[in-house]
Amino acid sequence: MEKAVFVALDFDNQNDVLELLTKLGHPQETYLKIGMELYYHYGSEFVKSLVKQGYQIFLDLKLHDIPNTVYQAARQIAQLGILCTTVHALGGSEMILAAKKGLIDGTPTGNETPKLLAVTELTSISEKILANEQNCSLSMAEQVVSLAQTAKKAGADGVICSPLEVKNLKNQVGSDFLYVTPGIRLSNKTTDDQKRIASPKKAKELGSSALVVGRPITRAKDPALVYREIKKEFE
Ligand code: C5P
Repeated sequence: MEKAVFVALDFDNQNDVLELLTKLGHPQETYLKIGMELYYHYGSEFVKSLVKQGYQIFLDLKLHDIPNTVYQAARQIAQLGILCTTVHALGGSEMILAAKKGLIDGTPTGNETPKLLAVTELTSISEKILANEQNCSLSMAEQVVSLAQTAKKAGADGVICSPLEVKNLKNQVGSDFLYVTPGIRLSNKTTDDQKRIASPKKAKELGSSALVVGRPITRAKDPALVYREIKKEFE
């Protein structure tokens, strides 16, 4: 998990995914992030088939429900052979603990338990929404730290955050926690809709444990070359 570079498969159809995977090659050395869009369309069989081919999968389903439901969902997820998955830290410590327990209980004997990563506040939530809709009296920075601390205490293995947040989070939450960071752009390239970006080299310097990269790879003329470049910079 440490130093992994996950390619975000933000596609709505399997053909585009398979085309990209053919270009990338090397399933054993390739880390993929599958989100809700692909998962809700193609389901667990698709995930299992990628795992069988040797890919390492980050299944980003952002679970958020009552603890028992999350426990049961996590137990199912653990049977897919994936590397890591996500929950919303806003679901509370009992729910995070239930997710962790579900992952442990669902992991087939002899397999490694998937890592549990927590999402703190979504990057789409502004300070204004935090105050007016979530009625939170903390600043965004304080709230992110608080949620990360709660997640860690409840048994999560890490958080998803901006590379620019890692230093502060590490100081306040600890180095014995994974900091998985999207918002990665190679220097001089388009930023798309990402606002707070860092290069793989900068992310490494700032202490990211693993990267999530989508469009810079998926929209590249030569995705394999860009993936190799990013991995080299980061590793
Ligand atoms: O294409 P791009 O590199 O911007 O994709 C980044 C991936 O990371 C997308 O799948 C996006 O949903 C995800 N992500 C993010 N910011 C977050 C959490 C997840 O960009 N805060």
